[in-house]
Parts: sequence; C-alpha cells; structure tokens
Amino acid sequence: MINLVLFGPPGSGKGTQASKLVEKYHLIHISTGDLFRYEMGNDTPLGQQAKSYIAKGELVPDEVTIGMLRNKVEAHQDAKGFIFDGFPRTIRQAQALDALLTGIGTSVSALIALQVDDEEIVQRIKLRGASSGRPDDSDENVIRNRIEVYKNETTPVFDYYAQTGKSHSVNGIGSIAEIFGRLADIMDSL
Ligand code: C5P
Ligand code: MG
Repeated sequence: MINLVLFGPPGSGKGTQASKLVEKYHLIHISTGDLFRYEMGNDTPLGQQAKSYIAKGELVPDEVTIGMLRNKVEAHQDAKGFIFDGFPRTIRQAQALDALLTGIGTSVSALIALQVDDEEIVQRIKLRGASSGRPDDSDENVIRNRIEVYKNETTPVFDYYAQTGKSHSVNGIGSIAEIFGRLADIMDSL
C-alpha cells in the first residue's frame, strides 16, 4: 500500500490536490473534514458532536475523530492505499493512525506538506467561503483561529514523521498543475 498524509494549513489546497492524486495513483481519499460535514449535513449523533467545535475552528476531540477515521480505513482494507487529508491533526491522531495501519500490515509512506503563507490562506478561504456555504470559511476570526490551531496542535505532526524521514514539503503557491507536479515527483520517488 501507498499511504500519503497530505498535510498543510486549511486552504492550502489539500482537497484539490487529493482529487488529482486519486486519479493518478488510484488511492482512497479520506478527508476527515468532508466526513464531518457529511455527518453534520445528515444531523447524525456524530455530526451533532462535531458541530460546535467546527463552528469555532477548534479540533473535534481526538477519540471522536480517530473512531470515525478507523471505521473508514477498515471499510477499505482491499485498497491500494490511502490519502489522508486533514488527518492526523495532533500527535495522538498520528500515533493512532500508525497503530491502525500497523494492524492491517502497512504504514504511512510519506507526509507531504503544502506550504502557503497566512495572508494567502485567509484570502483563499474567504473566496472559497463565498461559494462553499461553509460557516467556518466565512468568518475571519474563525479562519484565523483555524490557522492558530494548525500552528499549535498540528505542525508537531510534521516533526513526528520527520523523525522517520517521511516528511516532505512543497511550495503550495502556483497553478494547480504546477503544485500537482511537485507532489507527483515525490510520490514517484517513494
Ligand atoms: O480539514 P478541514 O479544514 O475541512 O476541517 C474542517 C474542520 O473540521 C476543522 O477546522 C476542525 O474543526 C474539524 N476537524 C477536526 N479534526 C480533523 C479534521 C477536521 O477537528 N482531523
Ligand atoms: Mg479540505
């Protein structure tokens, strides 16, 4: 299996690039943010649990997110591999992912971080908010809080996978095709 952690701040293009990577490498795309939005849209107990955190730009508690991710991975054990988009967001989530993948005889192949500066992110997310209908994309305070949470709680995950030589970074500024080329170069070297 090839298992990619597609990493980077909110609005860095993870979802856009994941769709293109899926086409080329035939992996299963798991976006925990999309899974939460699906649950909220259907007003499920899980969606209700996640809603207040997402509205504020805070992280949903690890055990909730990890449980949801586990169900999704276990449903696709025959996959060629996975693209994890928006997960892991904490060291505990990374440790849980490692344990889960070990349990099915595989591991994280690489983490690739898309690098985009804060002001570009704020502009991109506001633009997306105009059409996405996501409340957390439409309030600048929430957007800035998501960036803070990323810096404080999520960036340690980059260092965690760097310890085993798995972390890579690419410039996340440029055309969609240019950025995809940077990602594909790393994927093809794995
Ligand atoms: O990944 P995305 O930016 O779409 O996630 C939207 C929101 O979902 C995050 O701001 C956060 O509130 C929540 N989330 C989370 N833990 C994750 C992924 C998403 O709490 N691993
Ligand atoms: Mg996304």
